[in-house]
Amino acid sequence: VFIASPSILSTHQPPRTDTPPLLNRPAFGTDFIWGTATAAYQIEGAVDRDGRGPSIWDTFSKQKGKIKTGEHADIACEFYDRYESDLRLHKELGLDHFRFSLSWSRILPDGTAPPRGGRINEAGLAFYDRLIDHCLRLGLTPWITLYHWDLPLALENQGGWPNRQIVDWFTDFVDVCTKAYGHKVKHWIVLNEPLAFSVLGYFTGQHAPGRRGFWNLLPVIHNTALAQAEGGRMVRQNVPDAQIGTAFSCSPVDPFTPRDQNAAARVDALMNRLFIEPALGLGYPSDTLPFLSDIARKVAKPGDMERLAFDFDFIGLQHYFRAVVEQSLFMPYLWAKEVTALRRGVPVITEMGWEVYPDSMYRIIRQFSQYAGIKKLIITESGAAFYDTVQHGMVNDTARTEYHQQYLTQVLRARQEGLPVDGYFAWTFLDNFEWAEGYRPRFGLVYVDFRTQQRIVKASGRWFQQFLTAENETS
Ligand code: NOJ
Repeated sequence: VFIASPSILSTHQPPRTDTPPLLNRPAFGTDFIWGTATAAYQIEGAVDRDGRGPSIWDTFSKQKGKIKTGEHADIACEFYDRYESDLRLHKELGLDHFRFSLSWSRILPDGTAPPRGGRINEAGLAFYDRLIDHCLRLGLTPWITLYHWDLPLALENQGGWPNRQIVDWFTDFVDVCTKAYGHKVKHWIVLNEPLAFSVLGYFTGQHAPGRRGFWNLLPVIHNTALAQAEGGRMVRQNVPDAQIGTAFSCSPVDPFTPRDQNAAARVDALMNRLFIEPALGLGYPSDTLPFLSDIARKVAKPGDMERLAFDFDFIGLQHYFRAVVEQSLFMPYLWAKEVTALRRGVPVITEMGWEVYPDSMYRIIRQFSQYAGIKKLIITESGAAFYDTVQHGMVNDTARTEYHQQYLTQVLRARQEGLPVDGYFAWTFLDNFEWAEGYRPRFGLVYVDFRTQQRIVKASGRWFQQFLTAENETS
């Protein structure tokens, strides 16, 4: 076993040593966007209310052994009933933008829209209508994510993402949503982390629907990339003045040792290039990942490769940690594996096992800025899960506050160098259901007591409030 010494690691990506910029709100400029991000299944609860149909997460989370803590999100944060007071609190924190996702099966319980035999659930549409109106009344700008992983179960039963018809099912859903809300919502995110839901959902099986196997992977990737572009086109058609984006999980990738350079390039192609490059008209990164060339040869239909391109107004980056990788014979097609933060003995590791490495925020912004076709970047998620305790009615989450301060400092550094990064959405507003991890990792700026549904603004939330609303903003 090769053990890297700190000196070897540091020769590859030395963290910055010069003085970081001073964190203060005016330095970001008046147009910089400040918000939090959420997702329907993680916060709403009310899974069987007002005609909502089941999604793959409802059933997956109830299968034994799928969620580490054995929990599900039937109740979650009860945001469905509490959104009015919750959003007032959001506004009080000085965060003026709120990102949420639409539950597809709340709006289309059968998954399909009327032209393909499904029905529209008016009560589901009405819920988001009230939510949007409430945002607007409070002066919160709504940012809608169209797909944040909760596929209607009815569609999974017809094959789910490996079935090419999903491109039409999804585009119909986008049509319904944009026709309903496009006159008052101008910020649209087509997909949330396509890599995560395709690979974890259909290849490794760690996320819903929990399917495993290589034969699914290439069709899922291709259908997802097509849905991303077609979804974007549908938003553009129905909301010509919209700002349209899509959001990627992304991490700069470092080789563990000098001989792991090629492994790092392959992981980079998978993590950071797979869905942006087809959108930019560059095709899949099969130069670095040869197995992807089977998409063009075996999966795609004539004309598909051109359909993959869409001119997004912004790209959402969701960045939490850097990846350090080494070559591995045990991971087919990728021939690489992660060297965990734990194994590397890094000083700050979150509850998710992720390394806190602020420099990586700057690097990933710089990496995406190098694509000529990208106009604007928004950090659509960043945040940290740390163990929280309530003491005397307060949650003093110093580590989370420092995380945001340090990562924001790197956003500012990028901005001051002229890189086009225009916003930061903290993940997340309220502690919530963290998918296969259950409720244990808490990412919120606001603590939720899941027994009583009481909310407590954490010190990190207070820090944002002070930072964003103080007269003389300095940190
Ligand atoms: C990625 C996902 O978009 C979100 O749903 C998740 O909770 C956070 N990042 C944290 O893992």
